[in-house]
Amino acid sequence: MTVAIRNIGQLVTMEGPNRGRRGPEMNNIGLVEDGEIHLNHGFIVYAGPRSQAPSFTAEEEIDAEGGLMTPGLIDAHTHAVFAGNRADEFEERATGVSYQEIAARGGGILSTVRKTREATEVELFEQSKRHAEWMIRCGTTTAEVKSGYGLNLDTELKMLKVAGDLEITGLSIIRTFLGCHAVPPEGHTKQEYLDHVIHDMLPRVAKDCEYVDMFVEDKYFDARDARRYAEAARALGLGVRLHVDQMRDSGGAKLAAQLRAETAEHLEHASKEGLASLDQSSTVPILLPASVYGIRSERYPDYAFMKECALPVVLATDFNPGSSPTASLPFVMSLAVSKMGFTAAEALTACTINAAHSLKRATKIGSLEAGKAGDLVVWDAKDYRELPYWVGASLAKRVVKLGQTIWVQ
Ligand code: NIG
Ligand code: FE
Repeated sequence: MTVAIRNIGQLVTMEGPNRGRRGPEMNNIGLVEDGEIHLNHGFIVYAGPRSQAPSFTAEEEIDAEGGLMTPGLIDAHTHAVFAGNRADEFEERATGVSYQEIAARGGGILSTVRKTREATEVELFEQSKRHAEWMIRCGTTTAEVKSGYGLNLDTELKMLKVAGDLEITGLSIIRTFLGCHAVPPEGHTKQEYLDHVIHDMLPRVAKDCEYVDMFVEDKYFDARDARRYAEAARALGLGVRLHVDQMRDSGGAKLAAQLRAETAEHLEHASKEGLASLDQSSTVPILLPASVYGIRSERYPDYAFMKECALPVVLATDFNPGSSPTASLPFVMSLAVSKMGFTAAEALTACTINAAHSLKRATKIGSLEAGKAGDLVVWDAKDYRELPYWVGASLAKRVVKLGQTIWVQ
């Protein structure tokens, strides 16, 4: 099957090395005015200026009507499989009750754990499919999805199964086992639970995930726990992603670097020293400004310093029913620009090639170049700077996954 998309007013190719872009590189987005793209069997055979395009007869012709095209967005941190919602907590926080206070009285993560355990696999799939469709409508074509609302073997396996099944929507899914999201409520000590995760759960979930994750935070898990967990995960061939320094600086950035974790995610409270340690490592920082917004904090990660260190920064939604009830990367880009000082180009790089790099897929997705997957979005916009600018608008006009249109407005 061959597809040609012509009449692209502005084509953002993200052309360049297949790795995380750093510092000034984050502004080189490979902009082509008046572009064209050709796909064969789902992969790109040409992406560039119309004037240089080889002649190409395609079975499907798409007219971009002079609009903007970018690579499909890549959401490198989500908790998109969950049952129910926590709209009540979102409203309650507006009265001054904090995220931590709600968690301390058994709300928060544990309230979603109760609902997710109760849901049958079919119910959980139906609800999560709706979340995946929201992501697609916002221009996302690949998402990392974490488990972590089961905290027992059966429910964690159910969540990972449902996450994999979401690919039926057209979205590509990369699965992460977040067995250490919290200590479950049935009376284990933290140590007992961690032993259970390492000895009983990890070997059983290993074939259903690519990464593990742990919430390293006061009242959850600490550096010692992370060390043991990361070692056990590595022995099973799994990668390590970590939630660190979200509510307080607990030295999580440095810990992630020492453990050679693939990613350090959140980092709102990370110190300059912690962030600087990422510079010497292959650990990729993933920033989640929508969760700062969702918990009504004003403490955004220190992007200015990360930029000084030329870190290959990623932006993701953290889509979850508690701290970050949004599936929209354009909204996240908007927060990144207005609250953290990103340029629009840096924000787009952070949601495409850098996100692909953080998931070890930079040779396959994240830019529009010959040989890469035909994952792309045609936007109802003329200029890439409109993406973070039109806050809350649904601008994705056509979303294409491996050459197939999976959503048209
Ligand atoms: O990334 N911090 C831990 N996990 C999520 C919140 C999950 C929830 O509130 O349900 C986060 O913000
Ligand atoms: Fe998260």
